[in-house]
Amino acid sequence: TTTHKVMLLPGDGIGPEIMAEVKRVMTWIEGAYGVSFDVSEGLIGGCSYEEFGHPLTDETLARAKASDAIVMGCVGGPQWDGKTDYDKRPEAGLLRIRKELDLFANLRPAMCFDALADASSLKREYVAGLDILFVRELAGGVYFGEPRGIEDLPGGGRVGINTQRYTDAEIIRIARVAFEMARKRGNKVHSAEKANVMESGLLWREEVTKLHAAEYSDVQLEHILADNCAMQLVKNPKQFDVILTDNLFGDLLSDAAAMLTGSLGMLPSASLGSGGPGLYEPVHGSAPDIAGQGIANPIAAILSLAMALRYSLDMGDAADAVEAAVSKALDSARTGDIWAEGFERVGTTGMGDAILAALG
Ligand code: NAD
Ligand code: IPM
Ligand code: MN
Repeated sequence: TTTHKVMLLPGDGIGPEIMAEVKRVMTWIEGAYGVSFDVSEGLIGGCSYEEFGHPLTDETLARAKASDAIVMGCVGGPQWDGKTDYDKRPEAGLLRIRKELDLFANLRPAMCFDALADASSLKREYVAGLDILFVRELAGGVYFGEPRGIEDLPGGGRVGINTQRYTDAEIIRIARVAFEMARKRGNKVHSAEKANVMESGLLWREEVTKLHAAEYSDVQLEHILADNCAMQLVKNPKQFDVILTDNLFGDLLSDAAAMLTGSLGMLPSASLGSGGPGLYEPVHGSAPDIAGQGIANPIAAILSLAMALRYSLDMGDAADAVEAAVSKALDSARTGDIWAEGFERVGTTGMGDAILAALG
């Protein structure tokens, strides 16, 4: 049997609850596909800070690097929000693993399952059949740019500083991912930046244009200002196929798109680098408002596992099966975030039960 080394990082808040359902699906896959998962668990985020004084230890990072795929829950919570030392915050653990593994390509599919077209805050006709892929740059930009910090001003008062910074090489490697993905889908890329006010946006536009002309002229390319992109996502989301954007705009635009699909609890993501293991994580956070109640939607996490099967573990057929089972489960069971009249209202485990039942 093939053995895959999988690292699980449940994290904080609803992380452990949704990860329990991921584990059940993994056990089913082992039985159905005759593979074996060599699972290693670790702490990331606030839970790691409480245990070790740091949101991601070198030891956990080393185990993550040595695995074939990493599946993460989510990090953060109000108990750590007072921390002004950004290195110690739960989110710093996530940023560190992204940076250290050079996970520059964050794929965030926003797909509307048929069964959920009525759960969106937009009318059914705007979202039914929606299938957008965000390609978000994840290892650069204002998240990591120097200088950064909070400083005292000489004349009194303080200043908070972050730096948006992109090199041509960083832009080209993420744009390449977007064009390659588009070729396998609708063959269209919208590249979103603010070239009208930011030099980093202008360089982005120039480099994307050059790469397109040199190697991807068969793909339809449109440049769009990020603010207009946000508006168009709500006005007419089905015009989009692949949206290529930077770290910060990608964070905002993908959360907005989540609501088109029914719930933030539905959106998975894959963070890929060049060679090493991928990190698979839901788009949502630790949902402190519902943590510990057993009511969180585990689908984003389970679909993230499906992406791990597809992109890191060469098990595309198992990924298809998991996605089909999620789709089928939605015909009957619904967690609170996507619940509607006529459906059984279930908790996290109940949703897991329905998906396992659909897997057979
Ligand atoms: P959030 O995504 O945690 O929650 C936003 C809203 O969506 C909440 O009402 C929550 O209940 C709901 N929600 C999220 N996931 C859900 C699920 N699976 N099922 C049902 N409902 C769900 O965003 P927030 O409240 O702004 O952030 C909370 C914490 O999470 C912060 O500390 C933030 O830094 C962190 N965060 C972490 C990640 C990550 O780990 N990748 C992502 C975003 C935010
Ligand atoms: C996400 C989150 C993270 C981000 C935070 C928790 C660091 O919002 O994955 O979308 O901003 O990238
Ligand atoms: Mn986010």
